Amino acid sequence: MAKQEDIFKKVISHAKEYGYIFSSSEIYDGLSAVYDYGHNGVELKKNLRDYWWQSMVQMHQNIVGLDAAILMHPTTWKASGHVDAFNDPLIDNKTSKKRYRADVLIEDYAEKLQQKANKEITKAKKRFGDSFDEAQFIATNPRVVKYLEEKKAILKRMGQSLEKEDLADVKALIEELGIADPETGSKEWTDVRQFNLMFGTKLGASAENATDLYLRPETAQGIFVNFLNVQKTGRMKIPFGIAQTGKAFRNEIVARQFIFRMREFEQMEMQYFVQPGEEMKWYEYWKQTRLNWHLSLGLGKENYRYHDHDKLAHYANAAADIEFNFPFGFKELEGIHSRTDFDLKAHEEHSGKKLQFFDPEKKENYVPYVVETSVGLDRLFLAVFSKSLMDEQLEDGSIRTVLKLPAVVAPVKAAILPLVKKDGLPEVANTIFDDLKWDFNITYDEKDAIGRRYRRQDANGTPLCFTIDHDTLTDNQVTVRDRDTMQQERIPINEIKLKVQEKVAVKHWLKR
Ligand code: GAP
Repeated sequence: MAKQEDIFKKVISHAKEYGYIFSSSEIYDGLSAVYDYGHNGVELKKNLRDYWWQSMVQMHQNIVGLDAAILMHPTTWKASGHVDAFNDPLIDNKTSKKRYRADVLIEDYAEKLQQKANKEITKAKKRFGDSFDEAQFIATNPRVVKYLEEKKAILKRMGQSLEKEDLADVKALIEELGIADPETGSKEWTDVRQFNLMFGTKLGASAENATDLYLRPETAQGIFVNFLNVQKTGRMKIPFGIAQTGKAFRNEIVARQFIFRMREFEQMEMQYFVQPGEEMKWYEYWKQTRLNWHLSLGLGKENYRYHDHDKLAHYANAAADIEFNFPFGFKELEGIHSRTDFDLKAHEEHSGKKLQFFDPEKKENYVPYVVETSVGLDRLFLAVFSKSLMDEQLEDGSIRTVLKLPAVVAPVKAAILPLVKKDGLPEVANTIFDDLKWDFNITYDEKDAIGRRYRRQDANGTPLCFTIDHDTLTDNQVTVRDRDTMQQERIPINEIKLKVQEKVAVKHWLKR
């Protein structure tokens, strides 16, 4: 089996080769942790965004959209707590001069313990076969119990130390665990310090009169400050949600994992406003609903898991991540947070304006509680792209590289391929293309032998290829080839649209 690092390298190079992702300003040697999306990337990203939007806004009568500005009044960030508390604990290695997030070093150590436990479980599974009781094994096998307890204790201590701002203990923990610089193996660490992640900028024509602003580090605050605007104009009743997608910016300390941790990225967030006291019910509901949404993409249940937080952000009374099995292991893909009434109350205090809901039945005003779902679009892109990319050995022993993207989000839905560039086949192919282009993003390709063209579309992630050959001229049928199974069948030209529709319709995917 290929090593994780090799798989990740292949993902990055394939993303570039097929026009999905480029380094930003590459001709100037790039800009660290900033990326551009190419012709295929922009389509995949748009389709993932649409798939999210349709499931959240279109499918819920009580969820509406918003597009708030990136620049917001600076008091927003004082009220939200970001000015004082949006920090990462950083630590430098004295020998290598490399900078790390102290919490990530500890989490990676804890993840290794989890992997050791997983290894024992896999071994036992093989040994005991069908009679294997996994839950019992996890609860009783001394080695697994030891690894998992150690992991839990480490994460708990870290969570408590960060909560108390006891950075000396975070350093002590790193030293006690013998954590070394992952690149050089050195254990010479500086003290742990806090580092604010917000990017500052200025508004105004002259330096003296300029106002200090921040680029938003999350889209959520645009929703909170517009809570009453949307509630009143949309005549929304609790519970209701406001959804938004858009750019966010963070001056990440450690940004070395391609589009997993970027300095400029896109979030898809939804704030669900509920009655105080009902937040835990909705928190559980959204945890499950969001996991189901990810599962609908068909990347495999085994690639997702929950991680309930020990350390809570300053605004939350419960929080969990949906983690995904990225090429570098399980990491956060989406966060579900019960944010209490923290944000709305803080904005009331700082603005002097009421942000309350009048309940017509109870005839009383209250500040709603909020359950948030927040997923990074770029991270979702990486999850989908990396899991879809595979090398398959065919019956004849050759290897084909195929990008088995979920068809609903694939950039190009179908390729129209005349078998040869003559005999009237391109004319028929173009007629088919001109008919389909109104409904789907499709491509036309007449260069190279048909086998090579199929492989090109496989690597590009195109779910269906339609080939127009000489028989088409007399029987009005084309050959349709399926990317995943490589099966081919003949269908009438007038069934092509339906064939594509069945493959890519959001309805089929969301209902899975
Ligand atoms: N409003 C809540 C919030 O922003 P978060 O856990 O900091 O919570 C939510 O971020 C999601 O945004 C994460 O689960 C992740 O998918 C994405 N995200 C956060 N930082 C990111 C970064 N530097 N690069 C790419 N995606 C990021």
